[in-house]
Amino acid sequence: MRILQLLIVFFVLSLSEPNAIAQKKLSIQLNKPQAEIKPTMWGVFFEDINFAADGGLYAELIKNRSFEFYKPTMGWEKLKMNGGSGEIFILSRSEKPDNPRFARLTSHVEEGMFGLSNEGFRGLPVRENMEYRFSLFARNLGESPVKLIIQLLDSEGNIVGKASLENFTSDWKIHKTYLKSSKTDAKGKINILIQGKGTLDVDMVSLFPKDTWKGRENGMRSDIVQMIADMKPGFVRFPGGCIVEGHELENRYQWKRSVGKIEDRKLIVNRWNTEFKHRSTPDYFQSFGLGFYEYFLLSEDLNAEPLPIVNCGMACQYNTGELVPVDELDPYIQDALDLIEFANGPETSKWGKLRSEMGHPKPFNLKYIGIGNEQWGVQYVERYNIFAKVLREKYPEIQLVSGSGPKPNDERFEYLWTQLPTMDVDVVDEHFYMKPEWFLNNADRYDKFNRTDMVIFPGEYAAHGPDDEYPSSKNSWLSALSEAAFMTGFERNADIVHMCSYAPLLAHVEAWQWRPDLIWFDNLNVFGTPNYYVQKLYSTYAGTHVVPALIDGKPAIGQDSIYASTTIDRKNRKAFIKLVNASSEKTSITIQLKGASPTESTAKVIVMQSLNLMDYNSIEEPTKIVPVESQISGIGKKFNYDLKPQSFQVIVVNLK
Ligand code: AHR
Repeated sequence: MRILQLLIVFFVLSLSEPNAIAQKKLSIQLNKPQAEIKPTMWGVFFEDINFAADGGLYAELIKNRSFEFYKPTMGWEKLKMNGGSGEIFILSRSEKPDNPRFARLTSHVEEGMFGLSNEGFRGLPVRENMEYRFSLFARNLGESPVKLIIQLLDSEGNIVGKASLENFTSDWKIHKTYLKSSKTDAKGKINILIQGKGTLDVDMVSLFPKDTWKGRENGMRSDIVQMIADMKPGFVRFPGGCIVEGHELENRYQWKRSVGKIEDRKLIVNRWNTEFKHRSTPDYFQSFGLGFYEYFLLSEDLNAEPLPIVNCGMACQYNTGELVPVDELDPYIQDALDLIEFANGPETSKWGKLRSEMGHPKPFNLKYIGIGNEQWGVQYVERYNIFAKVLREKYPEIQLVSGSGPKPNDERFEYLWTQLPTMDVDVVDEHFYMKPEWFLNNADRYDKFNRTDMVIFPGEYAAHGPDDEYPSSKNSWLSALSEAAFMTGFERNADIVHMCSYAPLLAHVEAWQWRPDLIWFDNLNVFGTPNYYVQKLYSTYAGTHVVPALIDGKPAIGQDSIYASTTIDRKNRKAFIKLVNASSEKTSITIQLKGASPTESTAKVIVMQSLNLMDYNSIEEPTKIVPVESQISGIGKKFNYDLKPQSFQVIVVNLK
């Protein structure tokens, strides 16, 4: 494996000319803005893959809280303590078709305790001094009152937090209490135990840390959201990905199931549960606790445009490829129309009212909607056109996003591009999961791209290079560096590239199905990959306009392994010079600034570099490859700069 990796690295490096030591001149025309960098340029692609939602971003700590997994007691264990004994039954009620099951706990003896224990998602994490909000729906149909003991445990079984609940009635009611943990442990548990004799029916057993993002009760993990917020994304695409399509239509993402009361959101299996045999995840379901309302709220929190993708009547073409007949698309189209109403409609409209009741009377100001995810073929074109006609008529102000197949330039892509000009499309979503060398060799993709009235959205991309057994190893410096080179092309061609997003966004180190991913986490930690930091440098030094940055009169696309693009921030009078040196040699360049002068003789530079292209960040070494900031001197209208081997940097020059 190691030899193969080295060969690949050697091959990638040999793409760059080895003797490239001669001084190159990068000429930057600061007063000739070529195109605006759209505020939407750098976004994020969220999909519930790799435990991204349940077990990840969604801060719920109890797995299978409503007993609706295929195996209703998955994640739960019967527990008796101090001489207790009893029985657990799973019952199913018809009056709650979207959440029929609940557990009946019957404790038989006065001594001891009896109940259930939950293992959490890959363990139930507890943090020292953190407060937790416990809640459950419960009723007591028995004759005697019941006291419920709630215990937080560490991985050794020690009690690290406790609380109790009483006063249950014969009606289903929500009961809440708080617990504090005295210890930090990633692999704790929670017990819920009846003390003494009695029977209790329980459902929606829930535990959230109090420090969720913005302190919301049905909230998200604040550490993970913070990582996303730090990128200052221009949009949030949700809910995926293939999850939109479903393995079969029955399991497609239906946004209406993800809104309204949490206890009425119908759980379904997550399609990534069984997708890859080698990464099967039998406990992967979608509770929809994190649903469309929460995604809209998140987008708003991040000051990012929401970009929902809807199913267009096609299941995943890599799986069943199940199709809705074209004359039966109405319910699917209605879902899209209702979604726009949910986001933007007045409080008096049916779906606007629901949004308002959920806590957001004001519209979310939705501007984009994606029709289908990674679809292809005649079947897609037919369905897209039917959707587009209706949506355009009713909501002409909404931008319509189409797919272009799963790969750049294969026959599916080529076919769609023969059709796209005849379709009513505003934004074309492109997907690239290619080798690092592809990214280096195709950094001029958009320089050569046909200009039409459609804009381009590389909506899923990631360099897939060599890896080892460690989960985040595929997020090597090699992959990030090649993406950095490719992304100079997004900036250079900002006239047509208006949005882009790396994919997927999130992965749990113990529960992933797909890699590489931008941000990795476990139950207590989160870290950015080198790819994350590259992405973040682009998005936080985005600028407002792109200007020409030329080597020998040509865009810098790999001459002597140098890739470059430059943007300016017109309002704040700054230039952001992005430079990639993809070779293993140090390279010295002369940078010539034309059309504006620096205000001072120093500049800030932020550098990412590693001499080992296979380096990656991990839970143990989360900051092995991160941007390092310093000041450089000697800045003038012309200055020399040494590009370290295998480096990506942003030079920030203040302009007069
Ligand atoms: O990002 C992972 C998957 O890759 C997405 O779900 C899908 O759109 C693509 O095939």
